[in-house]
Amino acid sequence: MAVDILLGLQWGDEGKGKIVDFIAPKYDVVARFQGGPNAGHTLEFDGIKHVLHQIPSGIFHDNISNIIGNGVVLDPLIFKKEIEGLSKFNINFSKNLFISKKAQIIIPTHRLLDVAMEKAKGDSKIGSTLKGIGPTYQDKVARQGLRVGDILNPNFKERYNQLVANHKSILSFLNFSFDSDLEAIKDFGKYNFDFLEVEKDFFKAVEFLKTFNLVDSEYMINDAINNKKSILAEGAQGSLLDIDFGSYPFVTSSNTMTAGACTGLGIAPKNIGKVFGIFKAYCTRVGSGPFPSELNDIDGETLRKKGNEFGSTTGRARRCGWIDLPALKYAIMLNGVSNLLMMKADVLNEFEEIKVCTHYKLSNGELTDKLPYDVVEEHIEPIFKTIKGWNCSLSGISDASNLPLALKDYITYLEQELRVPITLVSVGPDRVETILREELAIV
Ligand code: GDP
Ligand code: IMO
Ligand code: MG
Repeated sequence: MAVDILLGLQWGDEGKGKIVDFIAPKYDVVARFQGGPNAGHTLEFDGIKHVLHQIPSGIFHDNISNIIGNGVVLDPLIFKKEIEGLSKFNINFSKNLFISKKAQIIIPTHRLLDVAMEKAKGDSKIGSTLKGIGPTYQDKVARQGLRVGDILNPNFKERYNQLVANHKSILSFLNFSFDSDLEAIKDFGKYNFDFLEVEKDFFKAVEFLKTFNLVDSEYMINDAINNKKSILAEGAQGSLLDIDFGSYPFVTSSNTMTAGACTGLGIAPKNIGKVFGIFKAYCTRVGSGPFPSELNDIDGETLRKKGNEFGSTTGRARRCGWIDLPALKYAIMLNGVSNLLMMKADVLNEFEEIKVCTHYKLSNGELTDKLPYDVVEEHIEPIFKTIKGWNCSLSGISDASNLPLALKDYITYLEQELRVPITLVSVGPDRVETILREELAIV
């Protein structure tokens, strides 16, 4: 069967974890294809809230194979912690979790490099999660990275030492201080700046990783396709953080889009089925970089408060703003989105009026609904259209026909502008707070 893809259309944190968990029962396989522990995917059900970083969001369902694909960068230390955090859920990892031997490994010095490079950038820092994502993808492209399959090789330690030596020379060039700069990585703080202790734990985590199913996941996925199994590829981050098409250089270091699922899992383009594009009814961003529809006023504060907009990975306050149609149209075009899923409609409940950014006014006076090349340097004035809010609670609504008229009008307006059906509306963080619009039901 074809492979469906679910991915974020904004700057990440759209609610991918919730929806992957929600639609997972329809699938035999759920696979992550890029990113790493920079992701924080939140799932809520039966009164439990869980944040996954590297493990696919289908893990709470029995009978689903969860694959960490070759396009992912995997931190063994964080992986061990994540698995330990899941121990109370009785998950059968040997049956349900598979890790590509071709996934790249994040080693502790990648994280130090992330800190050192951000520090060197000063005011123009990216606002990285400091999980070592950029430096690890850099080593992959420089053809010197370590892959999961390498941990089974007797010369792994030797190769690790070679890479660390290389990293240390860059760190010293960047004036990295083991004493003070390590503080930037909170979870390294517990080591009291003793890097040898960090390494000891890293090698323990590597031994732990060896006890899992390390596989040639490209064969596994293609066998599943040929055996008519249904597969869902789970994106991380969002299209506007894509390394090629995002707000460069304020992006992550992987292809977060449909095309990334092909290279990040080994899927031929002809095998791509539906593309579920997920977006918030408004917009957020965490970290630095352009955000044309950002609100630095009381409305922005309200969105942050009502939406609990604080990072799932770093705890940082997320920047908030109104929905941005030019950016959404761009992401829909690049991904070939077949279905839209609108999240967090409930966060807008208290607004009497909501706004939609329909166009950008550029510094030369031009009005456009396209993203300018120089989205970072260009002064973009957002042009807003005001829409009537529904201004009531959505709790208890499970049938799309019972949604308030103003919300139905908002959905219809967005569908007309974006030219893709909105198949699902999410009205709360819990699995059950999800409304399928019947005529377009996907599950
Ligand atoms: P992801 O990275 O795309 O998986 O998204 P995150 O988990 O980082 O952030 C989404 C946040 O919104 C999480 O705290 C979710 O529990 C929460 N959430 C998801 N859907 C809804 C919704 O419809 N309404 C509200 N209020 N919260 C939601
Ligand atoms: P999920 O999958 C939101 C942002 C960081 C920073 C930039 C680069 O939960 O949606 P990196 O650590 O990748 O080098 O950081 O990207 N970023 C995210 N923002 N959600 C994410 O993941 C993100 N992963 C990275 O804040 O601005
Ligand atoms: Mg997140």
